Amino acid sequence: MKAHIRTYGCQMNVRDSEAVSALLLGCGYEIVQDEAEADVIIVNTCSVRDNAENKALGKLRELIYSRRDHPGRIVGAIGCMAQRAREELFTKAKGLDFAIGPRRLASLPSVIETVRRGEGPVLDVLETEERHESLSGHSNTGVTAFVTVVEGCSRGCTYCVVPAARGPETSRPIEHILTETRSVVSAGAVDITLLGQSVASYGRRTSSAVFDQHTSPLGLKEPFPRLLESVSQIPGIKRLRFISNHPSGITDELITVMRHTPSVCEHIHLPLQSGSDRLLGLMNRGYSVAEYRDAVHRLRSSIPGLAVTTDIIVGFPTETESDFNATRSFMEEIQFDNSYIFKYSPRPRTTAARWPDDVSQETKLIRNRIILEDQDRVGLRINQKLIGHEVEVLIEGTSLRNSTRWSGRTRTGKIVIVEAVDTMSGPCMAMVRIERAMPQTLYGTVIRHVASSGIE
Ligand code: 5AD
Ligand code: SF4
Repeated sequence: MKAHIRTYGCQMNVRDSEAVSALLLGCGYEIVQDEAEADVIIVNTCSVRDNAENKALGKLRELIYSRRDHPGRIVGAIGCMAQRAREELFTKAKGLDFAIGPRRLASLPSVIETVRRGEGPVLDVLETEERHESLSGHSNTGVTAFVTVVEGCSRGCTYCVVPAARGPETSRPIEHILTETRSVVSAGAVDITLLGQSVASYGRRTSSAVFDQHTSPLGLKEPFPRLLESVSQIPGIKRLRFISNHPSGITDELITVMRHTPSVCEHIHLPLQSGSDRLLGLMNRGYSVAEYRDAVHRLRSSIPGLAVTTDIIVGFPTETESDFNATRSFMEEIQFDNSYIFKYSPRPRTTAARWPDDVSQETKLIRNRIILEDQDRVGLRINQKLIGHEVEVLIEGTSLRNSTRWSGRTRTGKIVIVEAVDTMSGPCMAMVRIERAMPQTLYGTVIRHVASSGIE
């Protein structure tokens, strides 16, 4: 059986798709890149905004239609939309064979078998308090790898579908995380990203006994900084990252471990969402603009060269011109290296969906464009400062747009494009002189490979 997986959404989904590939490979499936060849096509869906759901739905309908030329082809949905929409998904995508929620992915092989026996369609979603099994497999590990540390979210932001899509916050046992990380590192990964909706919540709802056998060389007590410290001790990790973050997680202990652990990268993704305290309150974000500012100041004053990136929602219910201007001026003050801007979209079963979506589509579009332009100016200014400097780049592969160019990332997460050099045949760590800067991309020349990288 040949299977193809199509992924929408965030790094969590990218990670889940990879784990699903490993699971299917282990059951004797072949994973194919070309969907036309596949007997089973799995769409990993995202529910974060309406257009993410529409894209996945359009794809599912197209695939179901393609059965005319591929009789017997199995088409299923996994991920956030499967969990959120449940039965409704089978009426919206008529002919769908299965839908499996993010916490039930371990059942995928048996669900496919059920469908093959003609006993479908199958809906397999987690009912809130049920225990679930996390997938820990990785397929075709490259130099970068994601490891999930916290699943779901219990924070309760009023706009967010994640609790409905991924369930309440659950931390994975530290031993599972360490074992999984060791295995991806021994398979060649050097750049590890720990994943969670809010990673610093790690262990806050789990007994601290999970750390009993681990001493903390830095004398740390909080679970997430201790986890970061324990993971960083695995030999072979060159770069350690973690996403996503919340200002409440920016504790002195987190800053200590970032500062004293050479592999922890100088980058933090810290979603702001809005620069208006009134809107932050309505969003139930649990911090004020002043507290966010304080978190960034504490980070920047301890970690030289730190890049800060963020997420912003424009057009949240009741957002006025003055709320919007507060966001713009706060962004100008902070000077983010990069930001991801989203137009608010009401999500079913969230608190904010009960309020009128009263900012017009047109205003959302205008506000989105204005912030993108602001960010481009700031991003360009920050990136131009790197021109003439040598930076360490983990070159991951050929550039998507031009195969004579290679693409990689700095420790701060910035994309760098370099011309191919003869000594480069695959992923490698290199020192690159930056020659040109764009708002989101740097261009440079390889000066030398870093001898100690161990990945040349
Ligand atoms: N509408 C628009 N953007 C949203 N996000 C989350 N929920 C919504 C929504 N309902 C954005 C937030 C989050 C990012 C992943 O997606 O900015 O940080
Ligand atoms: Fe990721 Fe959220 Fe989309 Fe789920 S709904 S894939 S958690 S962005």
